[in-house]
Amino acid sequence: MLKRVKFCVCMVVLNAGDLFKAIGMSSDSKKEIKNFYEALGAQGLANLLSPARHAAYVEFLKKVLPAQGTILDCACGYGRLTIPLAQAGYKLYGIDFSQKFIEKARAYGVQQNLSIPFLVGDMCELPFTEALFDVVICMWSSFSELLTVDDQVKALAQMGRVVKPSGFVLIDMPCPPDGEPLSDYERVNYALLGGHEHVAFIHDEQSLGELMRACGFTQFSFEYVDIGGIGRFIFRYIPK
Ligand SMILES: C[S@@+](CC[C@H](N)C(=O)[O-])C[C@H]1O[C@@H](n2cnc3c(N)ncnc32)[C@H](O)[C@@H]1O
Repeated sequence: MLKRVKFCVCMVVLNAGDLFKAIGMSSDSKKEIKNFYEALGAQGLANLLSPARHAAYVEFLKKVLPAQGTILDCACGYGRLTIPLAQAGYKLYGIDFSQKFIEKARAYGVQQNLSIPFLVGDMCELPFTEALFDVVICMWSSFSELLTVDDQVKALAQMGRVVKPSGFVLIDMPCPPDGEPLSDYERVNYALLGGHEHVAFIHDEQSLGELMRACGFTQFSFEYVDIGGIGRFIFRYIPK
């Protein structure tokens, strides 16, 4: 049951305090998102995606990821994609700010006889050295859970910092309606997911271009793809 709520949220003049008040959240949006996942749990998260859509995600990534190299699954959740990709032969690290999800991911990895470093951490402050990864992926709208432009810029800069200049960052987001530029009123999407209130920030090409400029990155591209019957907005950039 999705309800699009219209707020005046302009990328340039976004006032996070007012936004959070308007949508009934405290100004600590990350805490709210963490609480959402605490309440939802790993099973609740898994229930939100059909097996067919999950499989389509894995297939999509197998097509776009290089066979060699090290991949960071940023905001990896309970390892939904990290584990099947490692089983397919990719070398991965996973990071998520939910301790609970990371514990699940570690247990799931051990159960599958995989040795994947799973870390608890925030995508706005990645605890990795520069240029460590060949690719960074951030899938299933995880980036959309950063509700302030400040946090979005930090996360993009951090993902760009930890990926090699020869690599790329790939972010999977909800499609802006009809692929058209969003009005200022359509940036915030409120939904009830698994019975819990969830808020996501919707981007379009223009707003992502503004974030890239703020990070000083100039090489980026957009793609509208179908993953398991759902249109997705794929944003890719090189930290240059
Ligand atoms: C919809 S889930 C997607 C999980 C995983 N990427 C997948 O495709 O199954 C969003 C994830 O983003 C994580 N997340 C949200 N904000 C984060 C942040 N600032 N740093 C790290 N993880 C974050 C949540 O804990 C949650 O696991």
